[in-house]
This record gives sequence, structure tokens and C-alpha cells, in this order.
Amino acid sequence: MCGIVGYIGGGSAKRIIIDGLKRLEYRGYDSSGIALAANGRIAVEKTVGRIAALEDRMAGMDLDGHAGIGHTRWATHGAPSDANAHPHTSADGEIAIVHNGIIENYLELREWLSGEHGVPFRSETDSEVVAHLIRLYYEGDLLDAVFRAVGRMRGAYAIGAMAASEPDRIVAVRKDAPLIAGLGEDCNFLASDIPALLKYARTIYLLENNETVLVTRNEVSIFNERREKVKRDVYHVTWDADAAEKGGHDHFMIKEIYEQPKGISDTMGRRLGADGGIRLDGISLARRELERIERVYIVACGTAYHAGLVGKYAIERLAGMPVEVDVASEFRYREPFVNDRTLFICISQSGETLDTLEALREAKRRGARALSVVNVVGSSVARESDDVFYTWAGPEIAVASTKAYTTQLVCMYLLALYMGRELGRLGDGEYARLVDELGRAPGRIESILAQEKRVQEIAKKIYRSEQVFFIGRGPDASVALEGSLKLKEISYINSFAIAAGELKHGTIALIEQDTLVIALATQSRLAGKLLSNIEEVKARGARVISLAMEGDANVERQSDETIFIPRCADEVAPLLAVVPLQLLAYHIAKLRGCDIDKPKNLAKSVTVE
Ligand code: F6R
Repeated sequence: MCGIVGYIGGGSAKRIIIDGLKRLEYRGYDSSGIALAANGRIAVEKTVGRIAALEDRMAGMDLDGHAGIGHTRWATHGAPSDANAHPHTSADGEIAIVHNGIIENYLELREWLSGEHGVPFRSETDSEVVAHLIRLYYEGDLLDAVFRAVGRMRGAYAIGAMAASEPDRIVAVRKDAPLIAGLGEDCNFLASDIPALLKYARTIYLLENNETVLVTRNEVSIFNERREKVKRDVYHVTWDADAAEKGGHDHFMIKEIYEQPKGISDTMGRRLGADGGIRLDGISLARRELERIERVYIVACGTAYHAGLVGKYAIERLAGMPVEVDVASEFRYREPFVNDRTLFICISQSGETLDTLEALREAKRRGARALSVVNVVGSSVARESDDVFYTWAGPEIAVASTKAYTTQLVCMYLLALYMGRELGRLGDGEYARLVDELGRAPGRIESILAQEKRVQEIAKKIYRSEQVFFIGRGPDASVALEGSLKLKEISYINSFAIAAGELKHGTIALIEQDTLVIALATQSRLAGKLLSNIEEVKARGARVISLAMEGDANVERQSDETIFIPRCADEVAPLLAVVPLQLLAYHIAKLRGCDIDKPKNLAKSVTVE
């Protein structure tokens, strides 16, 4: 995720800003850069890669100053590259900016700036328009120019700006992206996040939406949209650095579980138009192209594979197309029926999983059109695919994947709904109902997260178990696989997931007195059948913890414990159902004293076969 650090004072801006950027490294980034005001100009250095690369680049240079802004970039518009890294500058170098967020009307602004004002663009980013726009309005007062420029922008942003002619000021503004100003001794700071400043400033101002801040060596002034000065109480940070990186949470995993409503909104927000139509980021999948497709293959590994299984239900049910799902390491060594009439979808958070990448290459060799659902912009899978449909989960740091999974599900639903509508296999009413259901998911997940205490209580009763069975039917069978994987990877409990109807074909032999069974019962269509499966295991002495739709008294009666999720359409229930299972896995692992963010034997990105 992008990060901003700004400094103005008596010290070395270069040292302090680089140090601050390093404190944001944990959030993930692909490039970094710094702008320093010195000798009547703004010097900019930026590079793709680690901050160490930026330091190396600056090592031999006699470059420093007492004011500057720095940035770590997590690519959204434009691949990771030196040119796309921030800071961006105006053509004459007068203005330098760093930006977090998305300028939604950047294309319009870009056309206008280059068409009407002959502005040359040097990057593919949305952010570059900000530098040119501020320059256009700059008449010697940076604060005024920022106000005027912001009036032309739509989107979400935290922007830090400097002008070569005013080296004693930094101006910053925020809307829907975090920004803080830190108060130091004989110096002041700017940052997107508290950890960047902890070493230097613990007294900060938390800026609110649509506020602009003017930072000088001796003063920090905050203005509202009407350019009136506002008074703000200072906030004293008491967290230590470690807790601050995790936003006050104990682990990245739980932080990321809580980030899911936002990740889902971000992933949907850019694609769902006000008219209810779905935009596929320019991916061309018109009816004519879809009608040529005979089969869809979804290929991925681990959690991403589980998202693919839910995607299969969605595409088959909503678009009426045949779908095969395979784990990448198997797909590669089969003789799959893939040809130029296949839509090959691969799913990967990192975009670097070798098995997935090789499966993608194999599918392309066989003539398939390859569409990837990826979280990391510019990753290998994204680069080698014909089309990319990004999840906007932000960087996932915990090894156990959570927000990547739910945003992958959103992408699969959007694709399925789009295909269903385009092919005329989904009536307007049903389409609108499901779009509405998707839109409600973030709020419903918030309400599940509010039940964390209840899940924690259940975790206390079962965390000593050494064996767990997850059962479910339909999409619940896929969510069961994911719930089981989450539990085993972070708690090391021997956990096993099975389609509930398969139990009686063998696995039920393992169910005995006090065996723990987690039953997913969110599918109203299959409720009766699932109840019978609960009864089967209860009859053999199992302890049953169920996951059911709010108010399902039958399941509650049959189970030892029930966790409810808000009522929703069966189709989108996996988006909600997985959340209590993530929380349960987290709390069980915590009670067992496991190293949750770095489970043994696991790596975040698996780049070996
Ligand atoms: C489990 C987990 C892994 C990954 C798998 C694929 O929590 O994170 O199972 O899902 O290694 O990784 P990506 O999605 O990066 O291809």
C-alpha cells in the first residue's frame, strides 16, 4: 500500500524521510522515491524496488535538504517502474507531489492538460495529473494552488506537495485516504500512517476528509474546504512501533480480516456503475466473444483455488457455462481440454506462484485466452495474462490469506454476473437482486466482525482439539475447504474438509465421541440435507459447531454451538461464511500460542514447484 512521509525542519530531510519510509515497508510496495528542496530547486530521486535501492542510488550524491516528501508506491495505475514511482513533478520542476489513492477523473484531466495546455506526461499513473494541475494554478502560493487543483479532482487521495519557490512549506490534503501531521521540536512532519513518525513525533494531528494542511518548520495549520482554519486537538500516540504497524491489532492476520469490508468495497466500487452495470476494466468479453467460449477453466493454488471453486458455482449457475477448476500443479501435468475456445482464468494473490504461472503458460500455449484475477499489480501472472482483473485488497502481509480470498470471490461474482447478463442467461430482476446482495456484503461482514467475542468464546472451548472435520454442501463445501485450510495452517490442528454428502462414503468411520465437526449450513436450498448430516455425526457422539443463517432454529437446536451470519442470498453466502471461520482459526491459533503471521513451513509467495 502506498505510503507518504514528509519532513521540514533543521535536520537532514533525506535521512528522516528514508527512515520513515522504511517504517512503512511492512505494508508492501514496489517502488519508492523522495523529493528534496535544496538550492532553489526540487531534486527528485526514485526507483523501482526496495528502499535500499533508493539509498544506493543516492549514496554517491551530495543531495540533502531541510524539507522533503517521500513515497512508497503499491502500483495501481501503471506497472511498477522508475517513471511511475513517486514523486511526480510538473514539467518545469517547480512542483513535486506524492499521492496515495486514485484520481478517478485522471483520464479526463490528462486529456485536458495535454490538449489545452500542452502538458507532457512522463508516466502512466493517475497521480501525475496532480503535479501538473497544481502547477497550472500555481502563482507563488502553494496553498492556494492546492485548493484550486483539488477542486478539479474526483476520487480518493492523500497528497503531499512542494514548490521549488517555497522551500519552507509543504502542503497536503486528504479525502478518503489517511493523512496525519506530526509535531516535532523545531520541525514538523507529514505521513500517511503513524508508524512512519513514531521515532520522531508522538504528538500528531489526525486530518479529516477534505482538510488541507500547511506544514512549516514551526507551524502546522489545518484548513477546511472553505479555506477556514480549523482547530484540532492533538492526539498522543502511546503504541509501540510494532503495534502501530498492525494498526493496534496483535497480528497482521486479524488486521487483514478486519480490512475485508474495505477490500470488498474497493474491489466492487470501481466496477459497479451507478446504472447497475458491471465494467470489467476494459476487458473485452462481449456476447460474441462469450458465445465462442466452450468451457471455462479456473486454475490456482491453495486459498486462491478455493476461491475458484466458489467461482465455478457462480459461473455455472449465473452464466450457464461449463467450468472446470483445477489446482495448478495438477493442471500442468494433465492433458486438459484447453484450446482457443477456452476462457482460462487463473487466480493468484501474489501473481508469483510458480505453479499458477506455469499453468497459465501452458494454457496460453494451447491457445486459450488467459484472464487473471491478481492482487499484485505488475506481477508475473498479471504481465503474462491477456487480461487482468485486479482484486483491490491492498497488500496482504500475513501468510494466511484472508482479504485476498474474499476479494477474489467478489471478482468471480462480478465476472459471473457480467457473463450471465451478456449471454442473456440472467433475468434483469435476478441480476439486480444479486448486485444488490453484493453491495450489502461489506456491511454484513462488519456485523459478523462485531461477533468476534462470541467466536473467541467458542475458540476457548475447542482449542485443545487435535482433529477437526469441516462439512458443507454446495458452495459451503468450498468454504469448508478454506475454513479447514485456515485452521490447519496457523494452528497445526489436523483438519479435514469434506462435502457433507460424502461423509457416509467413508470418512464417517472417523467420527466418534467428542470428535469436533464444524458444519456449514448457510445454503437454504440444501438446509434439510445438511441437517441430516449434522444428525449423522451427532448420533456418533460428535460435538457440532454450526454456521447458519440468522434465525435458523433447526440448525441451532441440533448443534452444540451456532454462529449466525446475516441472512443473504445463497449465492453470495460464501463471502460472509468464511469470515467467522477465519476468526475461529485465528483465535484457536492464538490460544495455542502459535506464530500466527508466520506459520511454520509456509511462505507468503511460493515461487518453487
Ligand atoms: C493460504 C495461502 C496459500 C495461497 C497459495 C496461492 O492461506 O495463502 O494457500 O493461497 O499459496 O498463493 P497466490 O494466491 O499468491 O498464488
